[in-house]
Amino acid sequence: MKNSLFKKSALASIAVAVTLACGSAAAEMKIVSKGMGGEVNPPLAPLPPIPEVMDNKNTPEKIELGKILFFDPRVGGDASVSCASCHDPAQGWAWAEDFSRGYPGTVHWRNSQTVVNSQYMKKQFWAGGASSGMNQARSAAKGGVAGNGEDDLMEVRLALIPEYKKRFKDVFGDEWPLIRNVWRAMASFETTLISDNTPLDAYLKGDKSALSDQQKKGMKLFNGKANCIECHNGPLATDERYYNIGVPAAARWDEDGMAQITFRFEQYAKGVTEDMYRHIKDDAGFYYRSKNKWDKGKFRTPGLRYIAYTAPYMHNGAFYTLEEVIDFYNRGGVDEEGNTTSFPQNKSKLIKPLGLSDEEKEDLLAFLEAFSGDEIEIEKPKLPDYAPLFTKAELMEAKK
Ligand code: HEC
Ligand code: HEC
Repeated sequence: MKNSLFKKSALASIAVAVTLACGSAAAEMKIVSKGMGGEVNPPLAPLPPIPEVMDNKNTPEKIELGKILFFDPRVGGDASVSCASCHDPAQGWAWAEDFSRGYPGTVHWRNSQTVVNSQYMKKQFWAGGASSGMNQARSAAKGGVAGNGEDDLMEVRLALIPEYKKRFKDVFGDEWPLIRNVWRAMASFETTLISDNTPLDAYLKGDKSALSDQQKKGMKLFNGKANCIECHNGPLATDERYYNIGVPAAARWDEDGMAQITFRFEQYAKGVTEDMYRHIKDDAGFYYRSKNKWDKGKFRTPGLRYIAYTAPYMHNGAFYTLEEVIDFYNRGGVDEEGNTTSFPQNKSKLIKPLGLSDEEKEDLLAFLEAFSGDEIEIEKPKLPDYAPLFTKAELMEAKK
């Protein structure tokens, strides 16, 4: 490896310290870049094993139960929508439209995120609204525009399914399936949806032929001139911080009444002022959590693994291809019509025109493709049937 791999960038924010290297992957991983605050950006790295969740340890039986529940629409309001309805394995474990489909009678207001690798994240959702996989699953199953389920109703449904009764007893010792254990089992299952067999992992582990020459050029841009590494860093290619990068408001709000309804409903649900509820025109992102005006339009840096399967991109699905995403960054966080964020005062200073040539854009695109490995396919579980809690004979017996 040459020490010119990462040229000193024209961008002031990236001061690259190059470790003189001897051609090994380990040495290459020592290359570090410094962020605006002078802190070191962790380099891209192979995906480590997923950390164990201390209060929700995995067992094969718990994972299997979680998998069945993930596909079961009875964990929801009208028993028509399961987790897998919006996180479809055939659509990147997400939903391939700008906004996700919603609970019947609604559309969602945000793009459906993939659940692949999601359990590595410290906080979940586009604006980090859930602090664990278990809390996330609970909010998803109960949220008005997602699962819209009632705890008591979901619980009693499960209790009337003998196979679940048995499985909850085996896994958690429940006499009667407890709804909180549904979230535990689902989160356990999700920890098994991992994408780490990518060309990038192979390359970083030492297989120099795993990336093409074009991808290697793209990697240099990613770490240097294009400065993607500033936010998309570490093994997941995310710093898990929140930025406003300039994504313009969803076009769909201009024409789709259903989408407007969900948008207003969410303002209400997230506790903004009445004035905002009536007048705000765009998703304020992290603001709903902090209620600090400087956080409007900020979202969690998403990981870049598995993105080959998860178009469209951004919190509102603004871009359908990675080419569009690269063009957007190259223009400095502006779309092709010249639109940018509705909260321009909060736009990150790190986002500015990059001056990439057409060839450089293609190199970067080729490198982005190296973040995805095989598609994760599984056999859909067979859903167990309801059965009456008591047989007629038992009821007759009880009457005596
Ligand atoms: C109606 C569609 C819908 C349903 C049903 C649904 N989700 Fe989601 N899911 C979404 C959308 C949209 C987002 C992003 C929402 C946001 O950030 O506000 C999301 C986000 C997530 C995330 C966060 C990923 C990350 O990177 O932070 C996980 C995990 C997840 N869902 C799992 C589940 C589970 C488990 C269920 C079933 C209990 C479920 N979802 C049901 C649409 C849905
Ligand atoms: C200042 C931090 C920052 C920098 C620099 C940055 N990104 Fe991002 N990236 C983000 C954030 C935040 C989002 C989500 C924004 C949203 O949804 O509004 C995002 C979204 C993305 C997405 C969409 C992922 C998905 O699942 O929807 C891709 C692809 C992407 N960035 C690639 C890049 C590339 C390539 C570069 C370098 C040219 C780059 N990013 C530079 C923070 C950054």
